[in-house]
Amino acid sequence: MSGVQNAAQGSTDYRDAGLAFPPGFTFGSATASYQVEGAFDEDGRTPSIWDTFAKTPGRVWNGDTGDVACDHYHRWESDLDLMASLGLDAYRFSIAWSRIVPDPATGAVNQAGVDFYSRLVDGLLARGIKPVATLYHWDLPQTLEDAGGWAVRSTTDVFEHYAAVMGAALGDRVHTWTTLNEPWCSAYLGYGQGGHAPGRHEPAAALAAVHHLNLAHGRALQALRATSTGSPQYSATLNFHVLRGVGDGADEAMRRIDALANRAFTSPMLRGEYDADLLEDTRSVTDWSFVQDGDLATIHQPIDVLGVNYYSTATVRLWDGLSPKQMNDGHKGAAGGTAWPGSDQLVEFVEQPGPYTEMGWNIAPEGLEELLLSLSEQFPEQPLMITENGAAFADEVAADGSIDDADRVDYLRRHLTAAHRALQAGVDLRGYFVWSLLDNFEWGYGYAKRFGIVRVDFDTLERTPKRSAHWFRELATTHVLPV
Ligand code: NOJ
Repeated sequence: MSGVQNAAQGSTDYRDAGLAFPPGFTFGSATASYQVEGAFDEDGRTPSIWDTFAKTPGRVWNGDTGDVACDHYHRWESDLDLMASLGLDAYRFSIAWSRIVPDPATGAVNQAGVDFYSRLVDGLLARGIKPVATLYHWDLPQTLEDAGGWAVRSTTDVFEHYAAVMGAALGDRVHTWTTLNEPWCSAYLGYGQGGHAPGRHEPAAALAAVHHLNLAHGRALQALRATSTGSPQYSATLNFHVLRGVGDGADEAMRRIDALANRAFTSPMLRGEYDADLLEDTRSVTDWSFVQDGDLATIHQPIDVLGVNYYSTATVRLWDGLSPKQMNDGHKGAAGGTAWPGSDQLVEFVEQPGPYTEMGWNIAPEGLEELLLSLSEQFPEQPLMITENGAAFADEVAADGSIDDADRVDYLRRHLTAAHRALQAGVDLRGYFVWSLLDNFEWGYGYAKRFGIVRVDFDTLERTPKRSAHWFRELATTHVLPV
């Protein structure tokens, strides 16, 4: 998504109230297994790479882990009641692979793990909430990482098996299946830049992971379609880089990151190819010989909806050396995807103009409108769904216990205004999921960053809806953007 050529014409402050969304538009909230479940060693679950990573000193802020997280594994029923009270149409959650197939060597299915998600799905349906289930939101079973992780092809065999198990178990009731969440993070942050589990710094492995994740997506779609007896929709969720360029060679910097971060996933999934410029740009790192005959056909399958995660824009420039920022920035510094040994000129992610959220990410609702318009132009037949959007802020609890998170309400309102403008321009946008339902384990930041519309007190695990939750309930129930 390079450049600003698709940016909305005219100016807007992206704060319109009173905008109506179509009747069928889905409003939901999202979470992910390791971030909320806890119960890390219960009912047969084995460790994932995030258990290992979080327990490695220095990897996660404050030494925080997902051992308990929001204790959603035990509190799921009251959490579903909470969602129902917020009038949500849908809940996007992920399944912990190592609860389902705790020992990939045998492939044996852990029924207790399957039962947990089966109860969850039934509980959602009983409350009139659509289950949107993601198979992979970053918690690879540790034993698979020990065997090479996403850098090796055999991981896709096990993923296909796991997908078939889940299709058979829940495919009669799940509303939407999502294969992968943000494979960019899994590949580049996990295997290149190292700020995410498994914390490796191997550019060639990162690119192999890109391909194996794409292949896993295709193989999982086949398995889910073969085993689901209901009529679920199928999807994948990607995080797109909405790029701005500065300095000499700005267009070239944007092109390179667009190739690595965006088109490395959309081109195989939606067009059945890897782009020539991606292969060329990375030639000094890998010859891409891990792509076998037939892989692209497997990856390229129709999906009913493309999931879009959007938080902010990214600004890039060409750079003649490796800056400390590029090496260290866990979110925008896609150093794993850009700082290839052997290339003379690298791409650096530079400071963005504010304002910022508590993550230090710039607030740019126009980037969401631009992204939706651009995707709809590139893939005109592809329905879209915003599967994540939201913000971390330093919430303050008032003396009476209430949380007036005006900055989060403002962020949501502005991004929903941007989404509405895209709808008005004809984009086939089906829904919006706020990240997140609950404050939760924010990966390398542990519990320091709060994204929830519901506050979690991590001492008592008590849940308190913030003002943003009340605001979102009004939106979800009226379909009109509240004042
Ligand atoms: C992307 C990820 O999917 C989610 O797990 C994460 O918490 C949010 N963005 C915020 O960083």
